Amino acid sequence: MSIDPAKLDAFVGRFVQDLGAVLHAATVLLGDKLGLYKAMADGVAVTPEELARRTSTDARYVREWLAAQAASAYVEYDPATGRFRLPEEQAFALTNEFNPLFIPGGLQVAASTIKDEAPILEAFRTGRGVGWHEHCADLFAGTERFFRPGYIANLVGTWIPALDGVDAKLRRGARVADVGCGHGSSTIVMAQAYPKSDFTGFDYHGPSIERARAAAASAGVADRVRFEIATAKTFPGAYDFVTFFDCLHDMGDPVGAARHVRESLADDGTWMIVEPFARDRLEENLNAIGRIYYSVSTFVCTPAARSQERGLALGAQAGQARIGEVVREAGFTRFRRAAETVFNLVLEARA
Ligand SMILES: C[S@@+](CC[C@H](N)C(=O)[O-])C[C@H]1O[C@@H](n2cnc3c(N)ncnc32)[C@H](O)[C@@H]1O
Repeated sequence: MSIDPAKLDAFVGRFVQDLGAVLHAATVLLGDKLGLYKAMADGVAVTPEELARRTSTDARYVREWLAAQAASAYVEYDPATGRFRLPEEQAFALTNEFNPLFIPGGLQVAASTIKDEAPILEAFRTGRGVGWHEHCADLFAGTERFFRPGYIANLVGTWIPALDGVDAKLRRGARVADVGCGHGSSTIVMAQAYPKSDFTGFDYHGPSIERARAAAASAGVADRVRFEIATAKTFPGAYDFVTFFDCLHDMGDPVGAARHVRESLADDGTWMIVEPFARDRLEENLNAIGRIYYSVSTFVCTPAARSQERGLALGAQAGQARIGEVVREAGFTRFRRAAETVFNLVLEARA
């Protein structure tokens, strides 16, 4: 064995960064749940005792948490006063769930993969699947909180206008199905923007549908949004516009789902498929975004698809070309990329 010391040093240096990030993640979730960041969002420098008073928490624990935040540059520390301050930029990204750059949701997803290690370990040995519904609740809430900021930022302003004629149709009033809707954030964002259209969100996961109904009621759109339990191959109704947000690759029979969409759509209807951003070849996805999605795909998306009938697992980094094969096999003839962000590919399929 000949080990290159410089390469080993570089790898260990990178590992130290990774270890720090993983351990810091748990402190971010704690700060999120206990309201520690929110209590510092006014930008006023605080002592641990003051922050503990503001949040009804223990000052000794808060001191340690603040030191961890300072070491990760999430807060600033002033040795002269012993005070800690949350900079405006960090407050923006850490405290408002409805801002387009809200961060903590992704870490909640990451935490869920560690909590759910046991069934995935078993799945690797047996080859069996692990359904979406078999994961811990952090996955469901984390997914909602991770993707919703992107929907708020892009869906109505950029993605829908990038589709052929869909924005005008929705303004006039159209029938929309949002399939694999999870907690319904995409459905609700669309319903808020297009009051003349009629929206139904479908998901096979009952607890997510209940949560989506509650979210629609508190968003004040329950009059034009319904949420129903149904799978992508069985959802009822006829539609002008069908949407799939980050779920086609989680399905064991994506071609069957695509065929059902085709049958449910009006002749001039549109199917919008939002998938994780990916290029077509593995070697093109070996980067920061691919790192996130391949890891989630190992724990969540691939086992989810393996748990369903047919068990065809596209994986979270399928890419436009592979999705295009699924779409064309189901009878769609027009297929193109309409938009993209760092995290999303927005694809349009039409008959
Ligand atoms: C990654 S989550 C995305 C949820 C939501 N669309 C979002 O963007 O926040 C995938 C969703 O697909 C749903 N799902 C998976 N397979 C399904 C199927 N065959 N039929 C309907 N829903 C399915 C899961 O229950 C889960 O809510």
